[in-house]
Amino acid sequence: MKKILVTGGAGFIGSHLCERLLKEGNEVICLDNYFTGDKQNIIHLLDNPYFELVRHDVTEPYYAEVDEIYNLACPASPVHYQYNPIKTIKTSVMGAINMLGLAKRVKAKILQASTSEVYGDPKIHPQPETYWGHVNPIGIRSCYDEGKRCAETLFMDYHNQNDVKIKIIRIFNTYGPRMNPDDGRVVSNFIVQAIKGKDITIYGDGKQTRSFQYADDLVEGMIRMMNSKDSFLGPVNLGNPGEFTMLELAQKVIEITDSSSKLVFLPLPKDDPMQRKPDISLAYDNLSEWEPKINLEEGLLKTVKYFKNVVSTQ
Ligand SMILES: NC(=O)c1ccc[n+]([C@@H]2O[C@H](COP(=O)([O-])OP(=O)(O)OC[C@H]3O[C@@H](n4cnc5c(N)ncnc54)[C@H](O)[C@@H]3O)[C@@H](O)[C@H]2O)c1
Repeated sequence: MKKILVTGGAGFIGSHLCERLLKEGNEVICLDNYFTGDKQNIIHLLDNPYFELVRHDVTEPYYAEVDEIYNLACPASPVHYQYNPIKTIKTSVMGAINMLGLAKRVKAKILQASTSEVYGDPKIHPQPETYWGHVNPIGIRSCYDEGKRCAETLFMDYHNQNDVKIKIIRIFNTYGPRMNPDDGRVVSNFIVQAIKGKDITIYGDGKQTRSFQYADDLVEGMIRMMNSKDSFLGPVNLGNPGEFTMLELAQKVIEITDSSSKLVFLPLPKDDPMQRKPDISLAYDNLSEWEPKINLEEGLLKTVKYFKNVVSTQ
């Protein structure tokens, strides 16, 4: 039995990861300050004697004897990370320093949840890990993008300088049950609007594309990455290469929810990338042929089911 720390464990992805790690027979410490996470996301785990919940902010040091650390703590949606940009960058950078310090002290292996945002508005399509990105360092997304880029640097430097065992994953758009309904991310936005019969808001002309990865596929990739050979550090992309325009996504959501919602078009937010699609060949080659298994329809069906329940109890 391994003792595993998950920072940001009460969030959307963190809660799925905690659930899976417990199912595999591990002991899990879930650490969260509940900025965007919610106790409701992990309430079903509280009876498990191998699950421990700690209210803590990663910008402060934390000490525990653990074998592995998954560092997920960080607001992930623009509305939340732009709410207090200084705090966002502190969470990424000081959080990374504190968790790397802990990993160094207790000789734990540590995985960083980085992001496709490190590629910025990419000039190469799809994005391989070798692409250094095209990021605005002083824009409204910079607190998140540059915070995550700096965290990657810190991970590499702790590895090179102090032999800390590190893993870096770059997560592309992920969706599924327990996404925060108010965080403005496109999948949850469209689903909630469609369920409520409200207008579906599309930014720009809706022809920009995104790839959408279902949460279970990501969690599988994260665990394979943590268990991969020590010499494979990443960064490695984890995402679904299937590419859809916002218009296509809206259409699918309308069909699945059988909604009467209409599409409305709003101006595109600043620095919004036009295209994002992962090249996942590195993950496939190094993580036992990892690739997403859940297609958009199947994932949307599960997510719609969850949000119908959320909306009906609001
Ligand atoms: N969901 C995606 O599409 C996506 C894409 C790329 C990267 N990621 C990364 O994955 C991780 C999890 O994202 P998510 O989608 O589950 O978002 P989320 O907002 O649901 O989860 C983040 C969690 O971190 C917690 N947190 C925030 N600041 C903290 C702090 N200072 N101290 C302790 N806890 C703190 C929040 O309360 C929340 O529970 C994030 O690091 C995010 O950057 C997510």
